[in-house]
Amino acid sequence: MEISSRRRGFPTVSEYIRFLHNSAEHADHASNGSKKTPQHLEAPELFSQTDMGRIYHGDSLGLMHGALEPGSVDLIMTSPPFGLVRKKSYGNEDADRYLKWFRPFAEGFRRVLKPSGSLVIDIGGSWKAGTPTRSLYHFDLLIMLCREFGFHLCQEHYWWNPAKLPTPAEWVNVRRVRVKDAVNCIWWLSPTPWPKANNRRVLAPYSDSMLDLLENGYEAKLRPSGHDISDKFGRNNGGSVPPNLLALANTESNGHYQDYCREQGLPIHPARYPAAIPEYFIRLLTEPGDVVLDPFAGSCVTGEAAEYSLRRWICCEISKPYLDGALARFEEQPARKVKEVFYKIASPCAVPVDEEEIILPVDGGRKRPLNLITRAKATIRGVQVHRKTRLIKSGVRA
Ligand SMILES: C[S@@+](CC[C@H](N)C(=O)[O-])C[C@H]1O[C@@H](n2cnc3c(N)ncnc32)[C@H](O)[C@@H]1O
Repeated sequence: MEISSRRRGFPTVSEYIRFLHNSAEHADHASNGSKKTPQHLEAPELFSQTDMGRIYHGDSLGLMHGALEPGSVDLIMTSPPFGLVRKKSYGNEDADRYLKWFRPFAEGFRRVLKPSGSLVIDIGGSWKAGTPTRSLYHFDLLIMLCREFGFHLCQEHYWWNPAKLPTPAEWVNVRRVRVKDAVNCIWWLSPTPWPKANNRRVLAPYSDSMLDLLENGYEAKLRPSGHDISDKFGRNNGGSVPPNLLALANTESNGHYQDYCREQGLPIHPARYPAAIPEYFIRLLTEPGDVVLDPFAGSCVTGEAAEYSLRRWICCEISKPYLDGALARFEEQPARKVKEVFYKIASPCAVPVDEEEIILPVDGGRKRPLNLITRAKATIRGVQVHRKTRLIKSGVRA
């Protein structure tokens, strides 16, 4: 038992026993998905390689339950297919079936991760079909990974994409009963509570007010919150510790990767994350030469970030056309620079509102607002209707 536990990357036998117990409870996953158990899946084929990394084509289960040595990976940095209600072209699983589908991958993650390693999952939220309510699948996934597979939640992060469109338009722009959904969750997990990490690797530039304070000094005092701000606060540490909110616009549409795909007639991957996301976690959680794995590699953004950070890396992707395009990332390119970008978020409620005019729809938005023609007719019918029309008008205008 001890040898099996170690071979599969569990820090203690008791964690292994708990894992076996939970797996038995959920043993139906194999019969509901593929007929083969993960251990019998075919090994993905080597597709391409660089000095630092390897790209495999095929199902990453075959890699994580086969070719990869147990306890050989320092960081799994990935963005799995999201359980979107509306399926995208890269084959999302429906939200309800998501956990069942994910279990063999979670088992593979446990097997290949070192005890000092981390698992970072970027995962978008999803709306339930037909109602303005959200699926819980990504929270369920987090809870499953911790409760069934013994992962520890080191810290949740949020990726704020300032360029995200306000969708679904029906809830946000037409019925106006929800606000813009602009963050993805990023779960940072680890097999032990003590994965290697150092926030000094990811410092952000000081703000102007902090620079001013560092230059002109700060009067040590008790904050209204009760926090005692000591004079150590005024020490220059080379940058500020960033928050767990990563502000990164995902707007690149004309980079080398896109140009290459267009020239070669290849599909541009529709769900890429910006390279700054894997770069941040690679720096925070690994040393140069460590091994980074992306089992849902898409266009190999993780591989590219690892290559330029001098980490060894392994990417595995099931769709060959995406890998054909990913090759662009490893061609000779001008040196990359981390751009310093500041975003501002305006305070909500700063625009004056007449609450007599802008009322809450009593049905919670169940009915669509009247269309323009109905409104015009309604206006003729008198004062009472007129008030309703004004409400609808402001509800419809974007
Ligand atoms: C959200 S995308 C990843 C995008 C990637 N982070 C990027 O920036 O290009 C998820 C990818 O996982 C791939 N995928 C799904 N199941 C897989 C599996 N079993 N093995 C390998 N790749 C898989 C899909 O084809 C898809 O390209």
